[in-house]
Amino acid sequence: MKFFLDTANVEEVKRIADLGLADGVTTNPTIIAKEGKNFKEVILEICNIVKGPVSAEVTSDKAEDMIKEAMELAVWAPNIVVKIPMTEQGIKAVNILSKKGIKTNVTLIFSVTQGLIAAKAGATFVSPFLGRLDDIGGDSLKVVRDLRKVFDVYGFKTEIISASIRSLKHVEEAALAGSHIATIPGNLFDKLWSHPLTDKGLVQFKKDWDAYLNTER
Ligand code: G3P
Repeated sequence: MKFFLDTANVEEVKRIADLGLADGVTTNPTIIAKEGKNFKEVILEICNIVKGPVSAEVTSDKAEDMIKEAMELAVWAPNIVVKIPMTEQGIKAVNILSKKGIKTNVTLIFSVTQGLIAAKAGATFVSPFLGRLDDIGGDSLKVVRDLRKVFDVYGFKTEIISASIRSLKHVEEAALAGSHIATIPGNLFDKLWSHPLTDKGLVQFKKDWDAYLNTER
């Protein structure tokens, strides 16, 4: 499973990219607004750091406006993926954009049918929102698992990005459910590799090694 970073914080992207762990980046209007910087500048900075797909979202409601926005975004950098919301107008836009060879990530997916429709429209990626679905008592992992099954059975090339990831459990379960990608917020990334027993074990190793070095042999 690939790891994307769900952030527009350039420092965070640099840090995780330096570890070789950032296969891509996803943003949305909320994430961009949080940084308080110019949209294009932030996206371009990120595209320079990460070679993989970088999602930038359109904000229009109508298909023709989304297409116009998407065409503008797509030329910013070769790794831009245009994020389009899962609406009737969004699907119309994805159909046209995919025929033009523009990569899309259909966002705000909460059901298998939404994901299937997006894939049929030619979406490069679909983003089921795990945390937000579980918040209202849904079974987000079932959506991911079933969607993967449907994509495999019918030979869709569309990749699943598990988004709205809130915990390590979400990351592990997304991997088990066959998600192609998990997009993870920066603060959760550190928790992926750290464990108190690892730290404790290391302290003990060091202590024992120092004692060994100080022993007369
Ligand atoms: O990229 C969209 C997404 O991951 C949102 O997450 O935590 O706002 O539900 P959250």
